[in-house]
Amino acid sequence: MLGSLLLGASRSPLVRRAVSGVPVTRKVVDRFVAGETPADAVEAIRGLTAAGLTVTVDHLGEETRDADAAARTAGAYVTLLGALTELDLGDRAEVSVKLSAVGQALGADGAKIATENARHVCEAARACGATVTLDMEDHTTVDSTLETLRALREDFPSVGVAVQSYLFRSEADCRDLAHAGSRVRLVKGAYAEPASVAHQSRTEVDLAYVRCLRILMSGAGYPMVATHDDRLISITETLADRFARAIGDYEYQMLYGIRADKQRALAGAGHTVRVYVPYGDDWYGYFMRRLAERPANIAFFLRALGGK
Ligand code: FDA
Repeated sequence: MLGSLLLGASRSPLVRRAVSGVPVTRKVVDRFVAGETPADAVEAIRGLTAAGLTVTVDHLGEETRDADAAARTAGAYVTLLGALTELDLGDRAEVSVKLSAVGQALGADGAKIATENARHVCEAARACGATVTLDMEDHTTVDSTLETLRALREDFPSVGVAVQSYLFRSEADCRDLAHAGSRVRLVKGAYAEPASVAHQSRTEVDLAYVRCLRILMSGAGYPMVATHDDRLISITETLADRFARAIGDYEYQMLYGIRADKQRALAGAGHTVRVYVPYGDDWYGYFMRRLAERPANIAFFLRALGGK
């Protein structure tokens, strides 16, 4: 209930202004966001990679409503990837792109504009040996995102995509995507979706996650298991045994600032662990989704507001 309210608020310009205007918000945001500038992101990436982790970097922003802003976002990725070249991380670095931030929401031409902007990002990523994964947004964007994925993969075969287990369609999407060379990030899903398209209870979403995971782990692609859920991590290990996937034939992914101890423990056991590192000043939507995922985060936020 509270989660749905927060997800609703994540799209409200009024609440955005109210929350963004509270000075202490920034302190709480910093728990989940690496900073505002590319230099902040690079510093966080240095620390994470020095600790044996890999990264996927997100330039914050979504639902861009003008073409110049969409092009600027693609430009910001190109600048960031330029800075990453100097760190020489190769495929230990990846960027995550929300297509709505690079133009997908711009009406009839949106998909074309987003694909072209994403292409520039892919070119810059290739130049520094990094990969690109397309984030998945609300259910109305899935077909368009998969279409862009297909177009990009013709020239950049390593481009990956996120699939959300809460959507009814996702088992079929996983089957389509579980082919050789395909990189699929499996997540539970972070948007408010109607019962006509998505499972509503946590148990149903978790069970669907396991079904999707099984398809990906038994398939020929490269599964990227993006969850902080211990039960799902242990099921992944069982499936890896069953389908003879060695460490390195799949990876774990977690969000910056969430379960850092678990991230390091998995990496210490030899797993590839990729941390999703968001940076930039357009943090509102991302931050509200993190609050919605866990009521305890709201208590943390309220305590900070109260100066404790
Ligand atoms: P769940 O929410 O059940 O959490 C399991 C445990 O993890 C909790 O008990 C708690 O300990 C910890 N935890 C989880 N969330 C927390 C939080 N916000 N704060 C503190 N602790 C928390 N979604 C999407 O729709 N499209 C996308 O493209 C992506 N991309 C993406 C990339 C990566 C790398 C990750 C890890 C996640 C995403 N997501 C996403 C978000 C995803 O859909 C989901 O909302 C979160 O990962 C939370 O789900 P869990 O699987 O962690 O389980």
